[in-house]
Amino acid sequence: MANLQFLSILSATFLFLLTLGNAAPCSDCFIHSRAAYYPNSDEQGTDTGACGFGAFGAMINAGDVSAASDLYRDGVGCGACYQVRCTNSNYCSDKGVTVVITDHGASDHTDFILSRRAFGRMAQTRDAAASLLALGVVDIEYKRISCSYPNKNITVKIDENSNYPYYLAFVIWYQQGKNDITAVQLCETENFVCKLLDRSYGAVWTITSPPSGPLSIRMLFSDDDGDETWVVPLNNIPENWKPGETYDSGVQTENFVCKLLDRSYGAVWTITSPPSGPLSIRMLFSDDDGDETWVVPLNNIPENWKPGETYDSGVQVNV
Ligand SMILES: *[C@@H]1O[C@H](CO)[C@@H](O)[C@H](O)[C@H]1NC(C)=O
Repeated sequence: MANLQFLSILSATFLFLLTLGNAAPCSDCFIHSRAAYYPNSDEQGTDTGACGFGAFGAMINAGDVSAASDLYRDGVGCGACYQVRCTNSNYCSDKGVTVVITDHGASDHTDFILSRRAFGRMAQTRDAAASLLALGVVDIEYKRISCSYPNKNITVKIDENSNYPYYLAFVIWYQQGKNDITAVQLCETENFVCKLLDRSYGAVWTITSPPSGPLSIRMLFSDDDGDETWVVPLNNIPENWKPGETYDSGVQTENFVCKLLDRSYGAVWTITSPPSGPLSIRMLFSDDDGDETWVVPLNNIPENWKPGETYDSGVQVNV
């Protein structure tokens, strides 16, 4: 008897451990939480969201937007998209609603404070929406999904608080896909040097004394697995940029990508399966003080590069 008991405890422990093993973070699973809605919002979010998107943060995605609490992640979560569905089967649809994070906030253990419009859109019918809204806070399930902006390129909006030419602040619009923007480089296009910018707050990137001349804004997209991809715009920000203006980068996340290479050994950099087409090799120079500068070549490595050949980058670093 005692042995049987011991065995059943053992197998229960084993089952428990198995369950633990399966509970590893699952990127495609719904996570249980709660959602409320902005009491003061009508069909949209708020113009004054913590992400710094301004009016864009209220009306993007037709006003299906949300404030996030932990998912705000000090601003890294700004612009991320989530499928949110409530769980009361009397009122709620299976599909729920897709929202974009444009603000930071929490209320009564919620992960999301949806726009009133998005909250109602979790319901099956208009009547069900009225019932949901009357509840105020509901149980939900959510998961991160890809943002999709058909017919939109990534666009840079110069913040109204910028002061040409001394202080440049901007946000990035139409961040497609499921990756976070984790770093931004500002490159001047005359000497081809780049600087890493600071995230000021939310989705707002700033630099005092930006370089003069046309500017190129590169974005580092990072996924859950830590894979990182630099997206390089086709179009520059013009020399005489203006507060309040928007500038089309000419690219969306699936084109114009850069990869970080591995130092194989010594001074040798390698990549298996390099992309086809002409290639641009950028180099990060770091000094003793930890200051870092990306140097961007003028000339590309031609499409049909050959072992043993040398190719002149067309640039040199300043001494
Ligand atoms: C996006 O950029 C491409 C390349 O510059 C351009 O041809 C296209 O018109 C742009 N799309 C939109 C919707 O502006």
